Amino acid sequence: MSETVNRGLEGITVAETRLSDIDGESGALTIGGFPVVELATNATYEESVFLLFEDRLPTAAELAGFRADLASRREIPEEVRAVLRRAAAEDRPAMDALRMGLAASTLGTAESASEEAARRVVAVVPTIVATYWRYRRGNEPVPPREDLGHAANYLYMLTGTEPDEAAVRGLETYLNTVVDHGVNASTFTARTVVSTQSDLISAATAAVGSLKGPLHGGAPGPVLDMLRTVHERGDPDAYVREKLDAGERLMGFGHRVYRVRDPRAAVLSSAADRLYQGRDDDFFEAVRAFETVAVDALAARGGDRRLDTNVEFYTAALLEGVGIPMELFTTTFAVSRVAGWMAHCLEQRADNRLIRPVSRYVGETDRTWTPVDER
Ligand code: ACO
Repeated sequence: MSETVNRGLEGITVAETRLSDIDGESGALTIGGFPVVELATNATYEESVFLLFEDRLPTAAELAGFRADLASRREIPEEVRAVLRRAAAEDRPAMDALRMGLAASTLGTAESASEEAARRVVAVVPTIVATYWRYRRGNEPVPPREDLGHAANYLYMLTGTEPDEAAVRGLETYLNTVVDHGVNASTFTARTVVSTQSDLISAATAAVGSLKGPLHGGAPGPVLDMLRTVHERGDPDAYVREKLDAGERLMGFGHRVYRVRDPRAAVLSSAADRLYQGRDDDFFEAVRAFETVAVDALAARGGDRRLDTNVEFYTAALLEGVGIPMELFTTTFAVSRVAGWMAHCLEQRADNRLIRPVSRYVGETDRTWTPVDER
């Protein structure tokens, strides 16, 4: 029997990984050995994915080949489109549509375990999200374009028009920033699934379910709601006080691992700053002001744990600036993180041990069976 119960597996090391490293005390994140800011601001998304899969940067020729390979795997079969059409017609949330579309996307392919299968999973997620969104808006899907990069093609499939460079760069910075982050809940879910020698689509589908919740990837939509409200109303102090006095959590703040500001917040805040510059809009200024007020109020609240800005706070501002609809914030997170999930799955498979923790039994003992007519 296990003596100590580590609720939420807090502080438990469950895997060795070469993919990313988090220092929660100092607020540092490295992905594939690069400080997050370096990867986020320099890489294309395809370079980040290659880095995770191969543990090195590609040469120019390798990058061209990898980019073309991913682009060639973007199509989804009609049967998946039918699922997405139905999900949109029933007004299902985007994450539910992604889960359904991803689960169905093994149709038309026999491949489920290799690195090629992992590339296909990465390639189809934006197509599934964009196809759902087009149906949701009453439009026909826009087929993927192989000549566009991953980020640009995602925006193109959403809108049907070629995106401008600033939006592509903003999105690409976001995709690189959140591509991997240790053994977070959805990544752990994916690793657990493949540890049973199950397949990659099953792992990705389960991970989508895990990412959906507001304690993980579901926060940026509510963050944007909050920011819009505060921007309209003014008076962020009053808003923050009301929420905290009512015992509610401020979305976009606090983290299981970081005890300081999430380093991804800095990267995304700079990217958003670049994007909003020159726009005739004081929204981003209000966002910045709100962060200061919220962090001060959370600090004043005391408690054992310092609560600071997490990645989702500036995700909301950046994706809003890029033009991603709020309903797709969490699915856009999945567009990026699916590469981390797949890399972790490949890593788990290469040195597998079934993930199977133990629990401490606290239920009844020594019961004797009573026949149903005597209860
Ligand atoms: N606002 C107000 N209070 C908070 C917040 C917050 N955002 N986050 C934590 N707290 C409080 C808790 O109520 C708790 O208080 P108590 O000790 O008086 O009960 C204390 O801080 C510790 O909180 P825990 O729940 O133990 O922290 P945990 O590590 O489980 O949670 C989490 C981390 C889920 C991110 C939490 O901070 C939270 O709910 N934040 C808001 C939602 C959010 O931003 N989610 C996105 C996370 S980032 C990501 O997954 C990509």
